[in-house]
Amino acid sequence: MADCPSTSSPVIRDIIAARASRRSFLKGFTAMGTIAATGTGFVGSLFAEESFAASAASTLQFTELKRVYDKDMAVAPGYKADVVARWGDPMTGSTSAFDGTVPSAAEQLMRFGYNCDYIAFMPLPKGSDSADHGLLCVNNEYISPNVIFPGMTEDDAGAKMTREQVDFGMAAMGHSIVEVKMENGIWAMVQDSTYNRRLTVETPMALSGPVAGHDLVKTRDDPEGRLVRGTNYNCGGGVTPWGTVLTCEEGASDTFGGKPEGSAIAPVLERYGFDGSDIYGRARFHDRFDMTKEPNEPNRFDWVVEIDPYDPSSTPIKRTALGRMSHEASTVVHNKDGRIVVYMGDDDYFEYTYRFVTKATFDPTKPETAKDILDEGILSVARFDPDGTLHWLPLVHGQGPLTAENGFASQAEVLLKTRLAADAVGATPMDRPEDMETNPVTGRVYAVMTKNKKRTQDKLNPANTRPENLWGHIVELIPPGGRGRDADHTADIYEWDLFVLAGNPADAATKASFHPETSENGWFVCPDNITFDPSGRLWVATDGANDFGLPDGIYGIDTEGPARGLPKLLFTCPAGAEATGPCFTPDGKTLFVSVQHPAEDAETLDKAETLWPDFKGPLPRPSVVAIRKIEDGAVGA
Ligand code: FEO
Ligand code: CA
Ligand code: CA
Ligand code: CA
Repeated sequence: MADCPSTSSPVIRDIIAARASRRSFLKGFTAMGTIAATGTGFVGSLFAEESFAASAASTLQFTELKRVYDKDMAVAPGYKADVVARWGDPMTGSTSAFDGTVPSAAEQLMRFGYNCDYIAFMPLPKGSDSADHGLLCVNNEYISPNVIFPGMTEDDAGAKMTREQVDFGMAAMGHSIVEVKMENGIWAMVQDSTYNRRLTVETPMALSGPVAGHDLVKTRDDPEGRLVRGTNYNCGGGVTPWGTVLTCEEGASDTFGGKPEGSAIAPVLERYGFDGSDIYGRARFHDRFDMTKEPNEPNRFDWVVEIDPYDPSSTPIKRTALGRMSHEASTVVHNKDGRIVVYMGDDDYFEYTYRFVTKATFDPTKPETAKDILDEGILSVARFDPDGTLHWLPLVHGQGPLTAENGFASQAEVLLKTRLAADAVGATPMDRPEDMETNPVTGRVYAVMTKNKKRTQDKLNPANTRPENLWGHIVELIPPGGRGRDADHTADIYEWDLFVLAGNPADAATKASFHPETSENGWFVCPDNITFDPSGRLWVATDGANDFGLPDGIYGIDTEGPARGLPKLLFTCPAGAEATGPCFTPDGKTLFVSVQHPAEDAETLDKAETLWPDFKGPLPRPSVVAIRKIEDGAVGA
């Protein structure tokens, strides 16, 4: 049974009191038409007296998978999971099959990258709703040297890696674009497709928006501060309505060495975690990754990058107006008034939840209206109030505390120091914000807090209610205006709720809260990436269950109706891996998932718990899998 937090947490008791007094206030507010009624049709507010419906009728029709920590992946009865693209798979016609050895850097540039993460399925032809032919655009977030190079551990790899190994690592990270086709229910890469492309930390990328050309992004390589070498630590992402992909740079700090002590930018770099750790040894061989030699190079990372996957010769563009952070999500909504909205999380302890709204509107009948639309608009950050209102606080130079006297000389500086600007305006510090997604049916937005072991009792706040939060939770953001397309994603004020508090509901100490009919296989910990299927069901990928002796996996969960908050387990990863990047084809019949870092918990390669997916030595291989029903039909239906 779910342990109702209303009896156990003083913070939640305070919130319930605040919300009770707000109810009458809201009635008047709604009558004035300022905010549409938002509770309608929804049960299961963790703050309501009747927390969940008495009996569930989940819209998820499959038989739940039994959760077992294993060498192999597993999927619910009636479903299959096929490997589509593995690290090292050849991406050109002339490249040989992976032979079990670590490729050279030059070879790796022609092969699928390591540690697959966010996936975008981009239909072919462009603009169609094709569900059997398209491009998979996949982030390759990082490498796991301890299960790539014999004898190396996570801690000593940075000091031990040879130049060749370092350069392999740089070539294996970034992003992979591959054409894929499905025949007879089986997906395969098109090896010699002209769309196939690798983007790495050496690929030229334009810097665009307010930060382009600023002194703090000028380097010896690029005295104009407008052309960056590459992208780094690509984690989450998003897709625009004009057919481009947004890839999120999630914290380049670990890939830099040296420390620019005493410089004006040093406190900012410290806030962004640039501690000189250089965990992949780059600074030993490449001066631009040594901050004492090229102090502005770090400022050219931790942005959102726009890629046109349909044009292999296009130059990716770093859109600095979207702020600088450990970017996780960049979920795009085409608001009913035509403006574009991007929701973003900053995945670090006590960091924030953001939103960007463009100045201009996008008209799908005039593709030219998309050009550089992401360069101008208002970035804001969320403050979650105890009365259930959410305020988007603008980060605009000259407004409130964001002035030159306070260290923000221009909008470019506000953006370069996004985290400090968010501190200054009083945003709500969250439990490591990972993904955000919008429910296409209800218009509500879901923000995932993966976990935060560092939160103490004195640092609790209305949206982060558990000290030492080892399990994570999901926050529901409720724009005014109505359901689906009627929701106004540009409003200054939303409402918000807690959707689920993750953890084992049978362990009262966790204060977990799911629907009371959640099974022993259905509850989860450490939600990370999420997606919605075309019917508006939420799918949650987890990252961190291994710490609890459980496999990470994929869970489906209704967000409205009697089974709101009732998760069901569909898929589990092999040992040591996290599930990430869940992505549906437009028909909802294929669910692509990245199985990232299999066996990574091993201290060294010889102790790897699994050699998934080949099961022949010596290397485990992070891979994208396709989950489908064995018989025809939508996943989950
Ligand atoms: Fe790369 Fe925040 O996960
Ligand atoms: Ca993630
Ligand atoms: Ca994570
Ligand atoms: Ca990860």
